[in-house]
Amino acid sequence: MHTDTAFTRRLGLPWPLVQGPFGGGLSSVSLVSAVNEAGGLGSFGVHHLHADQIMQVARDLRVATNRPFALNLWIPLHDEPEHPVVSDAQWDRAVRRLQPFFDELGLDAPSRPTPSAVWPAYDQQIEALLEARPAVFSFVFGIPSPAILSRCQQLGIVTIGAATTPHEARLLEQAGVDMVVATGSDAGGHRVSFTDAPENLLTGTFSLIPQVRDAVRIPVIAAGGIADARGVNAAIALGADAVQIGTAFLACDESNAGRPHQAALHAPDMDRQGTTLTRSFSGRLSRGLRNRLTIELAQAPEDILPYPWQNWLTGVLKRAAIAQGRADLMSLWSGQAVGLVRHRRVAELMQSLTSE
Ligand SMILES: Cc1cc2nc3c(=O)[nH]c(=O)nc-3n(C[C@H](O)[C@H](O)[C@H](O)COP(=O)(O)O)c2cc1C
Repeated sequence: MHTDTAFTRRLGLPWPLVQGPFGGGLSSVSLVSAVNEAGGLGSFGVHHLHADQIMQVARDLRVATNRPFALNLWIPLHDEPEHPVVSDAQWDRAVRRLQPFFDELGLDAPSRPTPSAVWPAYDQQIEALLEARPAVFSFVFGIPSPAILSRCQQLGIVTIGAATTPHEARLLEQAGVDMVVATGSDAGGHRVSFTDAPENLLTGTFSLIPQVRDAVRIPVIAAGGIADARGVNAAIALGADAVQIGTAFLACDESNAGRPHQAALHAPDMDRQGTTLTRSFSGRLSRGLRNRLTIELAQAPEDILPYPWQNWLTGVLKRAAIAQGRADLMSLWSGQAVGLVRHRRVAELMQSLTSE
């Protein structure tokens, strides 16, 4: 593997490998520290956490690792209010649609939470993140304000934004962001476009990498559908300075994905079942394994609430589904390279990524 890149030089890392951040509670301190110990950049997704919880995560990470790590946030989308307004009728319809699943899991239908319980205040998250001062601040769904980017620069925090098109990559570079993740539609998790509806911006990773390479001069990190050394080498050959891997790390014991999710990622029939782009899990377009939840909710897309409400509702299901081992009734985020998942320990995955 070519290891002397603008990415490794800037961060002083041996390998051009990033463990992708997972929001919603799927990141873990042990995942980040295991990746760091193996010479990659570990990332922790904190978009679902309140300011004091972000500070606590940073403290826990510093106890577990003395190497650089990334904290990751979601930027509020400009065309969306912080808490999308959902009428009582809409809420009731969404709950009615999920009622058979609540019944199957022996749950009462949940009562509606307050907006601040489902969506922490972004301004407070940013202040906590700057105070925590991670080596890297990575973010998706947009560009932080010039004031925040200049504070990152003053504090020596490297900023990494995500682009789903060459145009988005150029906007990030023009704003002064240090590096860009070229995120192909193969990737697991949310489609993080910020200039158009994500359904319109579905370029695959290996088409996107050289286009983003040609569009910007800042380091490019390739993400989406890469899970082994062949993919890493191919991305670097196309001009990437590093690779960000999600699904293959999510499938490792050290992640916080939980048993049913990890078992599904390792299941031998995954290459038959495949992944789908769905709004069923969270209300925003994301890629995950096809299961009963994605198939049945797709029949009535009008009953799916906008993010974060749908995410909160399926989160209630998910907690019970994990406890009961029911992978059919929970969000199973995954990228298209799921059929390449082989390893259960970060050390083994890192070894296989770096040894070929
Ligand atoms: C469960 C899950 C949650 C994710 N959450 C975030 C997130 O909060 N922020 C982010 O920048 N990327 C997030 N991602 C994207 C990953 O960090 C990474 O870019 C992506 O998984 C790479 O594609 P791959 O899964 O095909 O390897 C998430 C991905 C998954 C699978």
